[in-house]
Amino acid sequence: MLQIEEMRLIKTVKELKTILAAATGSVGLVPTMGAIHQGHVALLTKARSDCGTVVASIFVNPHQFNIKNDYLNYPKNLSTDLEIMENSGVDIVFKPNIEEIYPNSFTTTVNVKSLSDRLEGAFRPGHLDSVATIVIKLLNICQPNFVYFGQKDIQQLLMIKRMIIDLNIQTNLVSIDTVRDKDGLALSSRNNHLTEAQKQSALGLYSSLKSASNLSRNGEKSANKIKSEMEQILLSHNLDIDYLAICDSETLDEVTYINGAALAVIAAYCGNIRLIDNMLI
Ligand code: PAJ
Repeated sequence: MLQIEEMRLIKTVKELKTILAAATGSVGLVPTMGAIHQGHVALLTKARSDCGTVVASIFVNPHQFNIKNDYLNYPKNLSTDLEIMENSGVDIVFKPNIEEIYPNSFTTTVNVKSLSDRLEGAFRPGHLDSVATIVIKLLNICQPNFVYFGQKDIQQLLMIKRMIIDLNIQTNLVSIDTVRDKDGLALSSRNNHLTEAQKQSALGLYSSLKSASNLSRNGEKSANKIKSEMEQILLSHNLDIDYLAICDSETLDEVTYINGAALAVIAAYCGNIRLIDNMLI
């Protein structure tokens, strides 16, 4: 096992590869864009309990933002992030700069057909391709035995799962449940931008998912009936819906009739903050 007494902050691929070449235990990678919250901590804690060496990456990937201001305003707080990561038992923080990841000559994009073009992909063209591209780069750089993702970003998770299988990438994907605050709001770095009033309105996402789950548990099979109940709840919370769908929990194909487990997925604006959430129903 790699003996790292203090957490190390590494900025280059070369340095990271040299350090990881000396690691004998399993390596776990937790990719993040920083602005660390308890959802990220749950991933780091799981990686810490599974692996000999835990690498967390912090890279705000410019290509996956569709709106320049969303990228520029993405919350950044490196010193707090590093403190939380150290307290969560991270061994190595990989925080490359943009040129390290995307040299001028960079031209490749990874596309996981169907899984990246619908839902999020339809509303944020190219977003998931850019996520797939950065994730495969991080996997190739780190070559971790385990890589950790949250179910909060379910389409991202399913897409990466598919990519790992399709491209024979030698890593095990581990996923964790969505971490929520005490009222049910899914933790997200973007919640930092919500006012108190908007936070109340954002709870509509959780309420509508809970109502979908209750309806389904009580035997409702019609996706349309469940969606219309969800829609009313979202609208009554002043949320502006991008999409609302009941899908197959692996392929994300929309279903009309619920037979077994289905996934309810939502993207909605709360003011100018876009929030996503999902639940198995
Ligand atoms: P980021 O939004 O920082 O999220 C990093 C990881 O934390 C992702 O796997 C995400 O699903 C997980 N996560 C976020 N909020 C969560 C919550 N409330 N509960 C559980 N897990 C949660 O997702 C990205 O960064 C980027 O797209 C990335 C994969 C790093 C590629 O740039």
